[in-house]
Amino acid sequence: MIFLMDLFEKVAKLKKEKNAVILAHYYQEPDIQDVADYIGDSLELARVSQKTNADLILFAGVHFMAEGAKILNPSRKVILPDLRAGCSLSDSCPPERFAQFKENNPDHFIITYINCSAAIKAMSDVICTSSNALKIVEKAPKDRPILFAPDRNLGRWVSEKTGRTMDYWQGSCIVHETFSEKKISQLKFLNPEAQLIAHPECEQVILKNADFIGSTSQLLNYVIQSPVQKFIVATEAGILHQMQKKAPTKTLIAAPPNQNCACNECPFMKLNTLEKIVSALETGGPEVDVPLEIREKALIPLERMLEWS
Ligand code: 13P
Ligand code: SF4
Repeated sequence: MIFLMDLFEKVAKLKKEKNAVILAHYYQEPDIQDVADYIGDSLELARVSQKTNADLILFAGVHFMAEGAKILNPSRKVILPDLRAGCSLSDSCPPERFAQFKENNPDHFIITYINCSAAIKAMSDVICTSSNALKIVEKAPKDRPILFAPDRNLGRWVSEKTGRTMDYWQGSCIVHETFSEKKISQLKFLNPEAQLIAHPECEQVILKNADFIGSTSQLLNYVIQSPVQKFIVATEAGILHQMQKKAPTKTLIAAPPNQNCACNECPFMKLNTLEKIVSALETGGPEVDVPLEIREKALIPLERMLEWS
């Protein structure tokens, strides 16, 4: 039988031996967050992966994040503990349909949310994340129509905030579209002192009732800094681990999903486990690579994002 402490020790030893860095998204299991060198939202992790000198980048997140690290830092080996860790949002944007849209709409300036494949990034003008989307859209050329892809909810929210009309790709996240407006309203009624905080990937009906909207890091910082004591948190439940650690006196309620299920947990993010991390560090795989031609094209909009934000 392997104990959690043994796994923690193994990870620490292997990290040293392999000169590896572990980057973890907030939606990872608590034990994975606890062994990570950096925990962050998509923008923060992209920035860290660009600058690291480690020989091996272990991305405890999903496939598009590992691809992003490879594009930004191609001389490093990037591994993902479970190659099946995909993303419904990324899958909603197949490259063939995207190329078709571009061909039919050559004037469009294409702003793409980082939750997409490297092939889609390679066809985009600029990338954004949920923490810089407002800034990026404000900087887009005023004389061109915009396509915002692939998240329709984030796109609609950004459009309302910036006043910029845009065409939206009809993609969405299975986790952020799961929250129940009815159950949240009941919770608010029972906890009138609580604030609802939400990720902009949530549906409009949730966002219109939210007291604060932001990326995972922005939600975390809001909870830490706000004088409010109780929050209903409408994003993937993994974020509660850091929230509780950084703001131990606050009461956090995970926003309930429509069904009686654990649908507020991302099934892709949760494919990674501490055991798989140990195995990935031991074997140096599974590796995530991006073909050179795509990598070079995708780097341009990714670097533009980092410059604009
Ligand atoms: P952020 O952490 O950038 O807010 O992204 C949320 C998300 O859905 C990642 O898959
Ligand atoms: Fe994709 Fe949603 Fe999971 Fe994030 S939470 S990886 S957007 S399916």
